[in-house]
Amino acid sequence: MNRTQAREYIHKLCLEFERKNTKLNAKFLQALNLLDSLKTHFVLESSHQGINLQPQKSLSTYEQDAIFQAASALKPWRKGPFTIADLKIDSEWQSFIKFHLIAPYLNLQDKEVLDVGCNNGYYLFEMLQFAPKSLYGFDPSALYRAQFRFIDFFARSNINFYPLGIEHLKEFCLGFGKYFDCVFLLGVLYHRSDPIVSLKNLNFALKSGGEAFIDSLVIESDEDICLCPKKSYAKMSNVYFIPSISTLQGWCDRAGFKEFELLALKKTDTNEQRKSKWIDTLSLEDFLHANTDTTIEGYPPPLRGYFRIKKI
Ligand SMILES: C[S@@+](CC[C@H](N)C(=O)[O-])C[C@H]1O[C@@H](n2cnc3c(N)ncnc32)[C@H](O)[C@@H]1O
Repeated sequence: MNRTQAREYIHKLCLEFERKNTKLNAKFLQALNLLDSLKTHFVLESSHQGINLQPQKSLSTYEQDAIFQAASALKPWRKGPFTIADLKIDSEWQSFIKFHLIAPYLNLQDKEVLDVGCNNGYYLFEMLQFAPKSLYGFDPSALYRAQFRFIDFFARSNINFYPLGIEHLKEFCLGFGKYFDCVFLLGVLYHRSDPIVSLKNLNFALKSGGEAFIDSLVIESDEDICLCPKKSYAKMSNVYFIPSISTLQGWCDRAGFKEFELLALKKTDTNEQRKSKWIDTLSLEDFLHANTDTTIEGYPPPLRGYFRIKKI
């Protein structure tokens, strides 16, 4: 595929995304239009416990209500939390916990950065504090793009959001001649039925010397093995491969990464992921057996590894 063909392919995918999500997008647009009456500027701040967006002057009751109505129409909020004026969108995940595990290793100033599977862009909004040269996010969900647009209405960032998946990364880079210094793939790999191909795509998107940060569910074992849930893992039917750390290292080697560094290992607990009124579904506590310390399917409970890998 040459550059023109790759660019056309990406344009076609984006058009197809709009066509497939016409109804949903219309519903989300209605919610976002509620913000039109707000004229106040907001200032973004990364607090230790989420993203804050504070207005420069106090809001009327009408404006506060518009924000609440719009945010409520964009449920479920999986990643966050975001506080906008007095409204706390208390998402299912306390995403700052993951971000704080990785943040000490980040050197993003003047770097071109991509977050693949960025959800509503929570980590990208966090990364603004490091003054990167550019920030890109990929996520193929219409809801999460609408949530990104909602937050970005207040943040007015220059983050570039594309409704694309990791499987489109090569064509995107080829078509736009765009490669990155740093790429994030957080909480995505075990959802892919082709983890090595996904890592190869990630590698392709990096400039030489670039680095990637990934996190994955892992199993505790010194062997080169992998848990392949038969039907679901903690009720998630889209979990395909949960590697041991050694297996993950092998996948990264095969995908062309030359360095592999374990940054942190952490059990996902019900402090990090829990039910809140901003999701209408069940959460982690409903998917674990309290007395056997296993998932409801009988698998080991969620343990995540955080890694830095490098392209030489
Ligand atoms: C478990 S969430 C992880 C979100 C975030 N990166 C984090 O770590 O908190 C998985 C994300 O991957 C997105 N996703 C789904 N299919 C994808 C694909 N083909 N490529 C990249 N991301 C995808 C989902 O929409 C969702 O936002």
